[in-house]
Amino acid sequence: MCYYPDMKYSFPCLAPSLLSADFTQVAEAVTLVERSGARILHLDVMDGHFVPNLTFGPKMVADIRDITGLPLDVHLMIEEPERSADAYMDAGASILTFHAEACVHIHRLVERIHARGVHAGLAIVPSTPLSSVEPMLDDIDLLLVMTVNPGFGGQTLIPLCVDKIRSAVRLRKQRGLDFRIECDGGVNETTSSELVDAGTDILVAGSAFFGSDARDRLVQQVQGEE
Ligand code: DX5
Ligand code: ZN
Repeated sequence: MCYYPDMKYSFPCLAPSLLSADFTQVAEAVTLVERSGARILHLDVMDGHFVPNLTFGPKMVADIRDITGLPLDVHLMIEEPERSADAYMDAGASILTFHAEACVHIHRLVERIHARGVHAGLAIVPSTPLSSVEPMLDDIDLLLVMTVNPGFGGQTLIPLCVDKIRSAVRLRKQRGLDFRIECDGGVNETTSSELVDAGTDILVAGSAFFGSDARDRLVQQVQGEE
């Protein structure tokens, strides 16, 4: 069973991704997320190797931890995540998600994350089949199904990935498991209903949240009336 079956947030919920915010105005962006009623803040860490883009490291996560009580959903798009996982947990990650494609000893890293009392998330890119992470589903708290190829905000959702979410929901039920399912990429007012209907628990949205004045409507659409 997953280590934190009582993951306390209520679902479905929207997790705005800071990637699409103005990086010179990070504190203001965090305030915007808090005021919107979104329940989780998604932080994208990119290393320029696993994905062709660079963002920020543990110091940014720690500085954000200091200014908000929101759960921090840290999405590591980095090679060899085991080398710096502790730094992100020290920085205050509430959920630490790494990519199955970037790590050989997945089970070992999940155990290390749980030993620190942090929720462990496992992410898969669009070309990775669900079957490749099936052995880990008993142990993880979160399965992040990428709905675009990771690396950049503002891309269009790949419809095939929604089928993968449906399969994950079916498998979870069949096996009596309780990991949460998250999607990331291409979430907006048009795609969010299908994703919620498919059974997604956490919908990450970057450009549709920070690039639009309709962000509160998107939050409501996903989370329902508060
Ligand atoms: C992309 C990142 C996402 C990104 C999503 O690799 O993991 O979290 O912010 O951006 P949108 O919502 O604009 O597709
Ligand atoms: Zn992300």
